[in-house]
Amino acid sequence: MCGIVGYIGKRDSQDILIEGLKKLEYRGYDSAGIAVFTANGLEISKSKGRLAVLEDKLRDEPLAGSVGIGHTRWATHGKPSDVNSHPHTDNSAKFSVVHNGIVENYLDLKDELTAKGHVFVSETDTEVISHLVADEYDGNIVEAVQRAVKRMRGAFALGVLTEFEPEKLVAVRFASPLVIGIGEGENFIGSDIPAILEHTRNVYILNDGEMAVLTRDGVELMTTEGEFISKEIYHVDWDLVTAEKAGFDHFMLKEIYEQPKAYRDTMLGRIADDGKSVDLKELTMDADYIKSIRKVHIVACGTAYHAGMVGKTVIESLARIPVETDVASEYRYRSPIITPDTLVIVVSQSGETADTLAALREAKRNGARVLAITNVVGSSVAREADDVLVTWAGPEIAVASTKAYTSQLIAFYLFGLHLAGVLGTKAEAEVAALISAMHELPEQVEAILEQSAVLKQVAESISSHKNLFFIGRGVDYAVAQEGSLKLKEISYIHSEAYAAGELKHGTLALIEDNIPVIALVTQEELYEKTLSNIKEVKARGAHVLGIANAGSEVEVSKSVDELFAIPKTLPLLSPALSVVPLQLISYYASLALGHDVDKPRNLAKSVTVE
Ligand code: F6R
Repeated sequence: MCGIVGYIGKRDSQDILIEGLKKLEYRGYDSAGIAVFTANGLEISKSKGRLAVLEDKLRDEPLAGSVGIGHTRWATHGKPSDVNSHPHTDNSAKFSVVHNGIVENYLDLKDELTAKGHVFVSETDTEVISHLVADEYDGNIVEAVQRAVKRMRGAFALGVLTEFEPEKLVAVRFASPLVIGIGEGENFIGSDIPAILEHTRNVYILNDGEMAVLTRDGVELMTTEGEFISKEIYHVDWDLVTAEKAGFDHFMLKEIYEQPKAYRDTMLGRIADDGKSVDLKELTMDADYIKSIRKVHIVACGTAYHAGMVGKTVIESLARIPVETDVASEYRYRSPIITPDTLVIVVSQSGETADTLAALREAKRNGARVLAITNVVGSSVAREADDVLVTWAGPEIAVASTKAYTSQLIAFYLFGLHLAGVLGTKAEAEVAALISAMHELPEQVEAILEQSAVLKQVAESISSHKNLFFIGRGVDYAVAQEGSLKLKEISYIHSEAYAAGELKHGTLALIEDNIPVIALVTQEELYEKTLSNIKEVKARGAHVLGIANAGSEVEVSKSVDELFAIPKTLPLLSPALSVVPLQLISYYASLALGHDVDKPRNLAKSVTVE
């Protein structure tokens, strides 16, 4: 995910910026750059690749000056490249901007500015901001930024410099984090605390719609409407390692808590303002092609495959197109029937998984069109697919996937609704109801996270067991698979996920006294059936934790030993909520057993071998 650092003071800024960016490396990035006021004016140095590449460049051509901004870019709009890297500038090269987030209406703004004579060199949304600020400038950078921000939609954090007012560094926060570091005779900005922690522990944490104007001697805080505000100074008493995890004990926990943001970001700009339709403008497949699709194959590995299992139900129920799901390592060896009217969807957080990439190539060889759902814009999967639907989860650092999985679910909901819109397979009211329920998901996840203490207790009691079962029907079964994988991979407790009705066809004998069973019961139409399956395991001594919708507690609690209620949503959307307690149970079970949560044994974040 992108990182921002900025400095205004008396020291040379280049090293401060580079060192600050290094502290943000853990967030992942694909290019980096800095802009500094030098004796020659505002100068920029940037390059694709690791910070070391930029450092080499700066060693040959240093940028000397005591005011600057820096950025590590995680590609969103446009591939990783020198020209797409930040900082960006306008045609006069008098303004420079670093940006985290997404400007949703950048294409409209770009058209408008192009008509006025602005010439763009990159594919990014950020470049539009530097041109927009330049266009709005009439002698006051603060007002120009305020006017520019008013015209932008989306989520963003900005650092802005102009050669016309070299004594000022302007910072803005709009739904993308930004902190201001307060020093003596120097001040800083950072997208995260680690970027500035070496220099100061006193920070202002900006809220949405707030901005700061930094000079060497002070910081003025105001809203983007221009109203001055005051804020308490927050004293950071974390060490660097804790700061990287934003105060969480592990990246996995941080990423679980980042899910509401990941949901919002993945939906951003993809839903019409009236909330009645989904429009995935980034897809090149047109309506004629969509109408020609006869079947869909979803291919992925591990957690991404489990997202695909939910995706199958989503596409079949919203678009009425038959879907097959395959584990990527099996796909090409089973001679799948791939025809030109097959849409193959590959799902991969990293976009580098060897089996998934091989499946993609097999699909293309057979003339199918490929859509990639991935979290990494410039990845191999993204480059080779015909279409890409990016999940805006931000880099996932913990090996166990959490926010990437749930963002993949959101991507499937969006794609299913997009197909339904083109094919007319769902009534307008039903589509609007789904979209409205999707908007509620982030807050509903927050409500689940608030109950983490209960799940910690559940996890601690589970951690003394050697075996465990997850059961569910329909999409609950798909979530059960993911819950079981998550528990196994980080706690090393053996578990099995079963379609609730299938236990009695073989493995019921393994249900012994006191064995924990986690039963997902979120699908109203299937309640009665699942409750009977719960009775089967209870009769053999199982201790059952039910995960059910709020409102059904009374009914479900009669059949289970413990109940965890998740907020009520539409049945198709429930996986985006019901998986969250399972992630937390796995996390706390691993913790209780003293394992390395973020780096479980024998598992790599990106599996680039077959
Ligand atoms: C589990 C996990 C793995 C990955 C799988 C695919 O938490 O992370 O099962 O989901 O290796 O990886 P990607 O999505 O990068 O293709």
